[in-house]
Amino acid sequence: MEFSIKNTQPEKQRAACIVIGVYESRQLSASGQQLDSLSQAYLSKILAMGDMDGRTGSTLMLHHVPDIHNDRVLLVGLGKAEEFDRKAFLSAIHAALASVNDTGAPSAALYLLQEKVSNGDMAWKIEQTVFAALDEKYCVGKLKTKKDKDSASKALKKLTLIVDAADSRIAETAQTQALAIAAGVELAKDLGNLPGNICTPTYLAEQALNLGKEFPLKCEILERKDMEKLGMGSLLAVAQGSRQPPKLIVLKHSGGKKTDAPVVLVGKGITFDSGGISLKPGAEMDEMKYDMCGAASVLGVMRAAAELKLPLNLVGVIPSCENLPDGLAVKPGDIVTSMSGQTIEVLNTDAEGRLILCDALTYVERFDPALVIDISTLTGACVIALGHHASGLFTSDDALAAELEQAGQAAQDRAWRLPLWDDYQKQLDSNFADMANIGGRAGGSITAACFLSRFTKKYKWAHLDIAGTAWKSGKEKGGTGRPVPLLMHFLLARVAAK
Ligand code: BES
Ligand code: MN
Ligand code: ZN
Repeated sequence: MEFSIKNTQPEKQRAACIVIGVYESRQLSASGQQLDSLSQAYLSKILAMGDMDGRTGSTLMLHHVPDIHNDRVLLVGLGKAEEFDRKAFLSAIHAALASVNDTGAPSAALYLLQEKVSNGDMAWKIEQTVFAALDEKYCVGKLKTKKDKDSASKALKKLTLIVDAADSRIAETAQTQALAIAAGVELAKDLGNLPGNICTPTYLAEQALNLGKEFPLKCEILERKDMEKLGMGSLLAVAQGSRQPPKLIVLKHSGGKKTDAPVVLVGKGITFDSGGISLKPGAEMDEMKYDMCGAASVLGVMRAAAELKLPLNLVGVIPSCENLPDGLAVKPGDIVTSMSGQTIEVLNTDAEGRLILCDALTYVERFDPALVIDISTLTGACVIALGHHASGLFTSDDALAAELEQAGQAAQDRAWRLPLWDDYQKQLDSNFADMANIGGRAGGSITAACFLSRFTKKYKWAHLDIAGTAWKSGKEKGGTGRPVPLLMHFLLARVAAK
């Protein structure tokens, strides 16, 4: 898909479809009025007939409008002008793109971005439009041998975003950033959607190596023997129930000065989570192929950061293995020694994410990080607490929490902070080891975060629980690519603040 920013007047516009906003009730936007006078008031006559009242997300496709060069004019409802906010903009954009994609139009010009959105600026509008257009084109059925009509027939190839001349510089920058972020999102979605038999730890490692060939990223893969040498007894305990070899993937982007402390991202890479000996129930177990979405988001961010040549140092670390039951699998009651030296009683083998993350979190001490963020589909309890709209955010650093919250807000990929108080720590007490790997049903996401906090004492740290946001269930089943946009906005804001 090709995008461009232009400030062409409607009468000079040659796209196969020209998209015009209509406010409630029956009020043409400024560009709509221009087009209306060119077409001998054809548009206002249609509106007067009552065929389109401008309700948010409503659409009306017109063909061969008199005296207009374009084959199609699409009217899109924007709702009440004084209520035109982010939400209304997004539903108008989605409705417009779906409607254009239903036709054979290979190109479209959007005259919607000049409209003022109460709580979204031009950069936000451009980015969200790019995301929406690529999301609309995204195909989840890449392994289907016959393309279904949904994915095959979408003809739209060229989208022109019309902005006022004064906004074009901001718009160009936003477009460049949005395209890089969207490519990271797409990579994360693709990896999430791949089944566990294809997307194994080895496969993830290959993807990282490929990124290292395509971009100036340094890639290193640690094997089981390397992890043994490092004493990663906790990660290896999870991996021991699987025939797939575990991998610890390290990717480095060096865009900053040699002496700049890096931002480190750690992504949970369980390529399938059966629960292990504490086996999960069968219903929807297939969705546990998404348990590597934290890892996928790290790869997506590394790709986007490299493409944008972000002037900072960034390290991505991915502990990856499968969690399966087996004769050799780790059992409830087993006690393992983590790389940090702390011992862990494995009371539930389904709380495996924290077991692989804790060793990765100890490993990253060697990078002397400016800060570490781990991204993990860590707990079902987080889905219960926050649903599918916000990722769970945990950190004891208020400034870092604010940075991440603001980045999520800017990126339309929000996170909500939950407490990480010491009061919860005692739920992890074990009679036999330094700690247990579960803390009971109460505050399940918080005790999971508390567990991780015991391995992050040496640096500034935040944890994102993306169990509810990384994929959608039901009819729209599939990866979302979240929180790549949040993380990229976090990094871009840090670059801008420097
Ligand atoms: N990968 C799961 C968490 C998860 C559950 C993500 C549902 C997305 C949807 C994680 O490994 C897990 O199984 N967590 C357990 C922890 C429990 C045993 C303390 C959970 O949430 O049930
Ligand atoms: Mn689990
Ligand atoms: Zn898991």
